[in-house]
Amino acid sequence: MGKHEGIGIQSSPRGKNSNTLRLLNAALEGSRKAGTEAKLVDITKMNTRYSTGASTAAGAASAISRTITSTLLKKMLAANGILLSGPNYMSHVTAQLKTVLGRSVNVEHEQYLAGKDGFLIMTAGGGVRSCCWAT
Ligand SMILES: Cc1cc2nc3c(=O)[nH]c(=O)nc-3n(C[C@H](O)[C@H](O)[C@H](O)COP(=O)(O)O)c2cc1C
Repeated sequence: MGKHEGIGIQSSPRGKNSNTLRLLNAALEGSRKAGTEAKLVDITKMNTRYSTGASTAAGAASAISRTITSTLLKKMLAANGILLSGPNYMSHVTAQLKTVLGRSVNVEHEQYLAGKDGFLIMTAGGGVRSCCWAT
């Protein structure tokens, strides 16, 4: 059986002062102690670019391949466990994480990540609001 690999995705743009980063590092350190080869990927430092709205499988696949396949997707496919982390921004994920999710639509459609373990860390400052813009 191969080595157990994990990937922790950081989506806070706050750099070294990020609360999320502190929690993510603690989680990755814990999983390393349990024998997992755990790596952190900071998507805020990647040139992910916005989705172009490609909805066909071929279009979505090529949109992904320009940036994500070569780096992030390969790491996700190699991992047994994937931890998404980020702060709550206006009751949503950050724009950076939303961009990656939007550009990975084919990953969801083709169920490339089926069978992997998924984890989530989300930090928040003031609770969940229904809509920041409506108040
Ligand atoms: C632009 C922005 C929007 C935010 N929106 C929310 C929110 O809707 N609800 C909430 O509880 N906290 C909100 N927060 C607070 C952050 O989620 C919280 O401070 C978080 O710990 C920041 O994580 P980071 O240091 O890793 O960036 C917001 C912070 C920012 C900068």
